[in-house]
Amino acid sequence: MYPVVEDILTRNGHDPTRLMMILREVQAVFGWVSPDTITQIAAAVNRPRAAVQSTVEFYTFFNAEPVGHYRVLFSDNITDRMLGSLALRDRLCAAFAVRPGEVSADGLVSVDRTSCTGLCDQGPAALVNTRAMPNLSPERIDAMAALIRDRRPVAEWPADWFDVHENIRRRDKLLGHGLTPGAPIKAALDRGPEGVLAELSRAALRGRGGAGFGTETKWRICRDAPGYAHYVVANADEGEPGTFKDRVLLASCPDLVFDGLVIAGLVTGARKGMVYLRGEYAFLYPRLTELLAQRRRAGLLGNNIMGVGFTFDIEVHLGAGAYICGEESALIESLEGKPGKPRIRPPYPVTQGFLGQPTAVNNVETLALAALITTHGGDWLKDRGTPTSVGTTMLSVSGDVERPGIYEYPYGVRIHEVLDAAGATDTQAVQIAVGAGKCLVDTEFERRIAMEDASTTGSFMVFDRTRDLFEVAANFVEFFAHESCGFCTACRVGTTVNKRLMDKIAAGQGSPQDIEEMQRMHRHMQGASHCGLGSTATMALRDILNKFRPAFERRLLSTDFEPAFDLDAELSEARDLTGRDDALAHLAPAHARR
Ligand SMILES: Cc1cc2nc3c(=O)[nH]c(=O)nc-3n(C[C@H](O)[C@H](O)[C@H](O)COP(=O)(O)O)c2cc1C
Ligand code: SF4
Repeated sequence: MYPVVEDILTRNGHDPTRLMMILREVQAVFGWVSPDTITQIAAAVNRPRAAVQSTVEFYTFFNAEPVGHYRVLFSDNITDRMLGSLALRDRLCAAFAVRPGEVSADGLVSVDRTSCTGLCDQGPAALVNTRAMPNLSPERIDAMAALIRDRRPVAEWPADWFDVHENIRRRDKLLGHGLTPGAPIKAALDRGPEGVLAELSRAALRGRGGAGFGTETKWRICRDAPGYAHYVVANADEGEPGTFKDRVLLASCPDLVFDGLVIAGLVTGARKGMVYLRGEYAFLYPRLTELLAQRRRAGLLGNNIMGVGFTFDIEVHLGAGAYICGEESALIESLEGKPGKPRIRPPYPVTQGFLGQPTAVNNVETLALAALITTHGGDWLKDRGTPTSVGTTMLSVSGDVERPGIYEYPYGVRIHEVLDAAGATDTQAVQIAVGAGKCLVDTEFERRIAMEDASTTGSFMVFDRTRDLFEVAANFVEFFAHESCGFCTACRVGTTVNKRLMDKIAAGQGSPQDIEEMQRMHRHMQGASHCGLGSTATMALRDILNKFRPAFERRLLSTDFEPAFDLDAELSEARDLTGRDDALAHLAPAHARR
């Protein structure tokens, strides 16, 4: 029994729905979540021990085994790779004679990769003991290695190493809103719940989280669903590679998002709102919680909001590194302290969500827009966008551009306009969605960003003609193989087989049959998966394959079929025994072994 764990449990009210936060705190103290602490926590929150253990094991940022005192995770998005992240990782590994994924012999350091950290506009980036560190360089890696050798606590490292910039390059109606905190709540109280719903309907507001579901409809269904309590949630999980607009919104206009959540509570009858903030954005947590305290003092949250007797409060919950937790039912599981596995639907969360009660989950940008529409009325956004996609959209621009960052544009903006504004030259391709897989080539740069044309949840990754689109596809394939939650066979097996096939082609052992096998895998996974990840996981690969087939074919050194047997990996034991790891001790080329 550890007194420090008991303190943490007491502060969190022994509440199983606070399990993710409890585990984070325990890990911050011990560096990992040991079997003893799992036993203690499980007893205190009244959950089976195995349930708590499975939560610990599900999330990338929880350590069920001891890791290095300093755990450095390099962001593995393709844009970070383009900026040299793998070489920086290897440099740090070399400084401590440690291999990626292993703990150094003295237990001091472990170095590994993690999925996109949402800092693509200021990569290469890493997380050091969960703290985000952008703009890495060889010099900074060397300085970091020296601090680690001196065992200097991360809190004492130069503060400017952790500065994350907003990089807002273009503002439109959302980012230039100019409202004071609480003004949208006042407007909502004046209009009343039905009045708010009428304005959302007039504005034709569709969710910005991916599915484009009507916000008025979602809030109405939630309000009308029976339950002993209703809940509203801001989905700030933002794990889609190349997307960082929700981070910038929460940094630049958090009050607008909070106002949107309060209005969602007023309309649906919820008394509690939650922000599910991805673990990679933990650096925003102190500021957001401080702002919530200020809002309570200002009467914008709590028991008597604006003196009208309306009760509503907001909590921020941190995730722990799992892309699938952006899917709303997985997110709710995570909020309940469980592994983030999507639920079988129906019932949908909007009628049976958090703790089985009606729950409206909305994207951060949707909530900010709902607050603006409530204030200005449903026609306010109509002078922006297209007839089908009303308003503006926030694009997270990264990759081969002079000016990466956030660009807010009216829907309908053409791809080449964004490229010109961001200073892109000699562009070969623009990836605007990884999940739904849209890779646009130069003949498509006249297309418009809009739900009815080139739709994106914000990602806008630019690749110039020096880039190898095979590497881009391989990065996405690896991402999905890592992020599949493993619940259903089609997704678990399909994403893994695709990764093996891509590795095989990269190793120079591929044949045309492997490409055909990937196409077959795509067909199998359509409709055979339980959630949106499985059915969209192969889309990016297929789009790149269709448009950049030569990038794959020039790697097919063999026209005959070769089995997906990795001889080089099988020889690793022999290499260990002989103490060799030089180039000549390998059968596969270096790029295939990364
Ligand atoms: C695999 C997967 C990941 C998702 N990730 C996110 C996310 O990071 N943020 C988000 O708002 N919605 C995400 N969604 C969509 C949510 O499930 C949900 O539709 C959304 O939060 C609803 O908000 P909206 O109505 O405001 O769009 C994801 C969906 C899937 C299938
Ligand atoms: S489709 Fe994939 S991510 Fe979704 S539930 Fe199935 S295994 Fe999990």
